[in-house]
Amino acid sequence: MNILFMGPPGAGKGTQAERIVEQFGIPHISTGDAFRLAMSQGTPLGVQAKSYVDQGLLVPDEITNGIVKERLQAPDCGKGFLLDGFPRTLSQAEALDDILASLGKRIDHVINLVVDRDLLLGRLTGRRICKSCGATYHVMFNPPKVENVCDKCSGELYQRSDDNEEKVGTRLDEYTNKTAPLLEYYSKKGLLREVNGEQDIDVVTSDISHLLRGQAE
Ligand code: AP5
Ligand code: MG
Ligand code: ZN
Repeated sequence: MNILFMGPPGAGKGTQAERIVEQFGIPHISTGDAFRLAMSQGTPLGVQAKSYVDQGLLVPDEITNGIVKERLQAPDCGKGFLLDGFPRTLSQAEALDDILASLGKRIDHVINLVVDRDLLLGRLTGRRICKSCGATYHVMFNPPKVENVCDKCSGELYQRSDDNEEKVGTRLDEYTNKTAPLLEYYSKKGLLREVNGEQDIDVVTSDISHLLRGQAE
């Protein structure tokens, strides 16, 4: 099954992706995670991406499309994949259609996590991530059992450099101007499914899972 997760920053794409890929046994492909990994390793890609990511701006399409093209060719995508945070512009969506066509694949479902803009800032500024395994927490909504320690691997938790009020404002503007128009692109193709992302994390997971399994919500 080939799935796209859409939604504004903080909608819960990463949180839900962690759970859904486990259920379906498919890889989780997050362009944001790929950029952060490259940045932490100081690779040429990381150096290029850093100036955009740190400002909350989208990385140019040519760079982003190249990463996804390469990743989708890997053997572990044979059973399917979950793309989180890509595509984010019309040109990326068109590039994805071309990449998939060349691989003889297509998108089966586009899940849009719907969350009111007012809730997003609090979700993002309270987010904490495990340095070792990448698991996502929230200081209030999904706290670890021990403060700053990952439940899964005991790794140390950190805060993303773009999770402050100023950067979140820029990220939300980028989303509204460049990414939100894609919802219509997928709606016209009959692929778009909406899920209420304001519910409890477990309820959101269950709604997505039912949709993907073709059952009533
Ligand atoms: P990326 O890493 O994709 O960030 P984003 O889209 O801004 O989304 P987030 O990861 O912030 O939010 P999320 O929806 O995953 O929420 P999460 O589950 O963590 O991109 C980062 C940057 O990389 C971009 O700004 C850009 O520079 C670059 N980039 C990436 N892709 C690109 C592309 N395609 N093109 C160009 N540039 C690109 O949840 C957030 C918090 O809320 C967590 O603390 C979580 O615990 C909590 N939470 C989640 N669900 C719930 C719930 N139901 N109730 C209460 N709390 C919840
Ligand atoms: Mg994310
Ligand atoms: Zn961990």
